[in-house]
Amino acid sequence: MNANTTKQIIAALNVKRVGIVGAGQLGRMLALAGYPLGLQCVFLDKSADAPGGQVSKILIGAFSDPEKLAQLAAQVDLLTYDVENVPVEALGDIPKHKTFLPPVTALAIGQDRLSEKGLFRALKIPTAKFRAVSSMPDLEQAIQEIGYPAVLKTRRLGYDGRGQRVICSSAELGSAFNALGGIAMILEEFIEFECEVSVIGVRNRRGDMAFYPIVENVHRDGILRYSIAPCADRKLQKPAENYARRVLRHFDYAGVLTIEFFVKKGRLIANETAPRVHNSGHWTIEGAVTSQFENHLRAILGLPLGDTSARGYAAMVNFIGSMPPVASVLEIPGAHYHDYGKQPRPGRKLGHATLVCATRRELLSRLKNFPDIAPR
Ligand SMILES: Nc1ncnc2c1ncn2[C@@H]1O[C@H](COP(=O)(O)OP(=O)(O)O)[C@@H](O)[C@H]1O
Ligand SMILES: [Mg+2]
Repeated sequence: MNANTTKQIIAALNVKRVGIVGAGQLGRMLALAGYPLGLQCVFLDKSADAPGGQVSKILIGAFSDPEKLAQLAAQVDLLTYDVENVPVEALGDIPKHKTFLPPVTALAIGQDRLSEKGLFRALKIPTAKFRAVSSMPDLEQAIQEIGYPAVLKTRRLGYDGRGQRVICSSAELGSAFNALGGIAMILEEFIEFECEVSVIGVRNRRGDMAFYPIVENVHRDGILRYSIAPCADRKLQKPAENYARRVLRHFDYAGVLTIEFFVKKGRLIANETAPRVHNSGHWTIEGAVTSQFENHLRAILGLPLGDTSARGYAAMVNFIGSMPPVASVLEIPGAHYHDYGKQPRPGRKLGHATLVCATRRELLSRLKNFPDIAPR
């Protein structure tokens, strides 16, 4: 152990209480990963029975409420977040007085699809063609340049496929514009991708970086349905890591960061980035040597990063709208069950299962136990 590492560890030992803005499933899994590290997590969220609030202390309030954010900051040694939509204005001066990681600059850019695409472009990371749209004339002009089909998205607050419309002809322009509320938007080229992948990278406070094996993601109706790791096409690992490294360095980042890509003709096209732990990284809890949640905490605390290697082949299947009986999942060899403690609602992510197998072939065969994820 060198002197630098020892200094980092001593600094990290002073951090006992971690404030997490947002108490969704991501926060809950962070808190669970924090227990063995001796951490106490305190959440801020609207409802006491939010997934995080069921496993750790919670302060009740909106994460857009500056007073509540200040109250949370006063109770903890360090702040992080599990939602991307924490309004940066509501944070005010908090990040100046209390360590707030990942950095606010990354949070701000990740909240706006236009700034995010602009950053990819500035860092020479390939993206789909895009244009800013804030009026019908803008949209008509943008579609001339981008062509059909195209995807119109709200710049802010979209998630799980919400806040976007595919436009296939001029007849659909007006309805798509109105359906999204006519607010600030972005028009993107529709990418006929072969598949979607994501890279999850982590950087700690002294600049060490590590990357998980990239993941293949299958979405249905804009929501992640399942992921398989590592991705079969190993050639994509290096370029994905290079792109993620650029983004991590750009922000002087600490924590976990995800970039989602389309793969077309064997090349990566960046779609979006998330400055936080990510659904496509849930497989790492059982499928990697160190989970994304533990590594996020290690990174923001300034601790050494854990090994990001896969322990074989893993798949993560989201449970959307309803949970299968626990026994029906656990009878599948290599399966693990995660219930986020949420009330069922159509389209809502309620939990997931992870399968870990020794070979990809075995993994694909066991995935057949989840009939509703079979290709349509
Ligand atoms: N430009 C595009 N071309 C093709 N498919 C797209 C495009 N943009 C989004 N999609 C599809 O919709 C999904 C969700 O869109 P995304 O931009 O990732 O928004 P969200 O924030 O909802 O995850 C993507 O994973 C992809 O399957
Ligand atoms: Mg996405």
